[in-house]
Amino acid sequence: MTPSTLASLVALSLAAQSPGDGGAARYRAWCASCHGADGRGVPARTTRLAVPPADLTACRASSAEPEDHWVGIVTRGGAAFGLSLDMPAFGEAGTPEQIRALVRYVRSLCRESGWPPGELNFPRPFLVEKAYPEDEVVITDRGRGQELIYERRLGKRLQLEASARSAFDGKPGTFAGVTGAVKYNLWYSLERGALASLGVEATPPLGRQDRWEVEPFLTFGAYPRRALLVQGEIAGTWEEAEGISAFSYRVGVGREIGRVVPMLEVGWTVPRDGERTLSFYPQLWMQLSRLGHVAASLGAELPAVGPEPRHPRLIAFVLWDYADAPLLRGW
Ligand code: HEC
Repeated sequence: MTPSTLASLVALSLAAQSPGDGGAARYRAWCASCHGADGRGVPARTTRLAVPPADLTACRASSAEPEDHWVGIVTRGGAAFGLSLDMPAFGEAGTPEQIRALVRYVRSLCRESGWPPGELNFPRPFLVEKAYPEDEVVITDRGRGQELIYERRLGKRLQLEASARSAFDGKPGTFAGVTGAVKYNLWYSLERGALASLGVEATPPLGRQDRWEVEPFLTFGAYPRRALLVQGEIAGTWEEAEGISAFSYRVGVGREIGRVVPMLEVGWTVPRDGERTLSFYPQLWMQLSRLGHVAASLGAELPAVGPEPRHPRLIAFVLWDYADAPLLRGW
C-alpha cells in the first residue's frame, strides 16, 4: 500500500466517523419531504400525514432523549415505539453507522449549546432527587401516604416543582401538605456521564405541617460507561423557630437491564437532637410504554437503625414525561 492510498484510506475512515458525514445529504434524500428541508416539521405540500412530524430542530426535544432513542425510531420506524405509522423504518435502507450519522446531523440542528443531554436523564429513584431537569407528573404511594408531583422545566437547566400530599392513616386530616421547589443544573459532562444540580424545597404550614420547613439540597448522578449508575443527594433541613434541624445523606446504585433498572438506595438522617435513622430502599424501576415516556417503580422502605417503632413500608410510583408524548400515545 502506498503512503498516498494509506492517507486517503485514513481520510475516508475519518470522514465516515465525523458526525456531519453524509448526514445532511441523507437527510435531504430520506427525511426532508416530511420533516421539512430545515427539519422544522413542515412537510412538502405533496406529503399527507395523519400526525404532524415533530420539529427536529427544537433543542428541548432533541436533547431530552438519548441519541439511541432516535436511532431506534429511525431504524425501526415510528410504529415500533407506538408512534405514527407515517414515520418509516430506515433500518433496511442504511447501515447502523449511516443512521447514527444521520441522527447526529439532525440533533446538531439544535444550534444552542448548554442543553444537558438525555443520556444523563437517569431513572428516578425513591429518595434521591433527580439531577436532570424534567417535565413530569409523578404519583407516589408510600405506605398510607400519597403524593402528586408536577415538575416543569424552564429553559435549559431550571426546573420548578409543586407537590401535594395526602394521608389515609386513620388520623384526622387527610390533606397532609404541599411543597414547592426549584432546581438548577449546575454542571454536566456527557464524556463523564455525570451531572450535578442544586435546589431548594419549601413546605409551608398547611395540612399536617405545622411550621415552615426549608430544605436546600445538592444532588448528582453518574453512569460512567453505563457500568454502574450512582445517584446521590445531600440535604439540610431548616425549620421555622428551630433553625437547622437535620442533615440527610442519600445514595443509590443501580444498573439498567433492558427495560428495568433494579436500584438500592440508602438514606441516613442526622438530626441535631434525637436519634439518627438509617433505611434501605430496594426498588425496581420499569419502563412501561414502548416510547419510554411512562414508567413505574415498585419497592420498599426497610428501616435499619433508628427510634422504634418504624415498620417497613411499600413504595410505588408511576410517572409520565408529558413533554415527550401525550399519555395515551407511544404504547
Ligand atoms: C413519510 C414521512 C416521514 C419521513 C420520510 C420521515 N419521517 Fe420522521 N416522523 C414522521 C412523523 C409523522 C413523525 C411523528 C410521529 C408521531 O409523533 O407519531 C415522525 C417522527 C420522527 C422522530 C421522533 C420525534 C420525537 O419527537 O420523538 C424522529 C427522530 C424522526 N421522525 C426522524 C426522522 C428522520 C431522521 C428521517 C429520515 C431518515 C425521518 N424521520 C423521515 C414522518 C416522517
